[in-house]
Amino acid sequence: MLNNGNFMSYFEIIGGKKLNGEIEVKGAKNAALKAVAAALLSKEKWTITNFPFIEDTNRILEMIEDLGVKVVRRKNKVEIEARTIKKNNLDEDLTKKLRASIILAGPMLARTGRVEMYHPGGCVIGKRPIDMFLDGFKKMGAKLKQREDEFVLSAEGLGGARIFFPKISVTGTETMMMTAVLAKGETILENAAMEPEIPMLAEFLNKCGAKIRGAGTPAIRIKGVKKIGGGKLDLIPDRIETGTFAILGALAGGKIRIKKCNPDHIRALLVNLEKAGVRIKEKKKELTVEGTEKLRPVNLTTHEYPGFATDLQPPFTLLMTQAKGTSLIHDSIFDGRLMFTEALNLMGANVIMNDPHRVTVNGPAKLHGRKIASPDLRAGITLVMAGLIAKGKTRIENIYQIDRGYEKIEERLKKLGADIRRIEK
Ligand code: EPU
Repeated sequence: MLNNGNFMSYFEIIGGKKLNGEIEVKGAKNAALKAVAAALLSKEKWTITNFPFIEDTNRILEMIEDLGVKVVRRKNKVEIEARTIKKNNLDEDLTKKLRASIILAGPMLARTGRVEMYHPGGCVIGKRPIDMFLDGFKKMGAKLKQREDEFVLSAEGLGGARIFFPKISVTGTETMMMTAVLAKGETILENAAMEPEIPMLAEFLNKCGAKIRGAGTPAIRIKGVKKIGGGKLDLIPDRIETGTFAILGALAGGKIRIKKCNPDHIRALLVNLEKAGVRIKEKKKELTVEGTEKLRPVNLTTHEYPGFATDLQPPFTLLMTQAKGTSLIHDSIFDGRLMFTEALNLMGANVIMNDPHRVTVNGPAKLHGRKIASPDLRAGITLVMAGLIAKGKTRIENIYQIDRGYEKIEERLKKLGADIRRIEK
């Protein structure tokens, strides 16, 4: 049964409570989505543990079930067995709703030789180009037929290719890596993305019989193999959740202990939090962050990994509204990622949009609660955090966008002392 999510529910937040205590990080959304796609490469069973059950992962599981793949959901894990793939077309509604649906194209093409799909969409930043995917598939021997936002890829057998990405792309790198695993011959990916989700996936694929070298560096070499076996994959912790909770600690702690995380994956954030005057204690899988009233402004430019993640830019921009002085924030990756600052201004912030990629933040600003809608996932959680530090009541609508990436967020925040309620409609 395809589920279209509930768009009417909202969060009601009473701000101003100091947050204290422990919060555990879930498995990485952006690793889970790719692991589900990669499971299509194998006829054998994949068990994916530390699996986050959030709206985006629910949607991708529904999409592969629609292809006839067996999916068993258990507590914190999922079993996937793609013995056969019965369809070549991806569900139109779900594809248009989930940008990440594009990552199914490569494994489907590699397994069945054909994929029919629509241009993927999603939130305000979701509908972005897919030219690098299409160029990559063509280099590997696929034929492309395109009509407006519908396209059909077909191949009688994919071959290795040398692919240089004109722009670094996370899902582009993952897609070409997965597709090349079953292609004949060697594929070389250059100017590849290095996000930690990529070596995680490559290491597991290698355990299942793939021959991938260099994942986690800008040059990845893949020797095609005939088959990929089954196995058990434990997902890495979600680095964006980790970073979001660290910023929350800086804004609204008290003292927040973030457990089951990997601090090395958010080094660029930690360095900038320290520059801003935030006190952080670090252990191997744990961070403790304390709130501070004396925040310093920090200028920031987002960058591909290991640089400062664009997904952490919205909460960091919120943090800067509380720093004394002026900071410049430059989101170099996506257009539209700074649009949410209009909502922060409605809550009392002083953020000036210089151009679609740059804002000037003047602080500190006293925020007040109000009714607001969540434009996308990372902006959505940022507005929740703004509500938690604002005076009075905030109502956040379109929380489907937040549920896309953060599992039962209000229950976890309540355990820290937050006054937040989900109102179901
Ligand atoms: N781009 C193109 N052509 C393409 C593909 C991408 O021009 O064919 C452009 C994009 O428009 C963007 C840039 O390349 O300007 C980089 O985008 P990238 O392809 O790296 O983004 P993505 O792979 O679609 C992933 C994450 C995003 C995260 C970005 C950047 C997943 C499912 N999504 O997106 O996560 O922001 O990398 O790190 O892995 C999120 O979790 O909220 C989220 C948006």
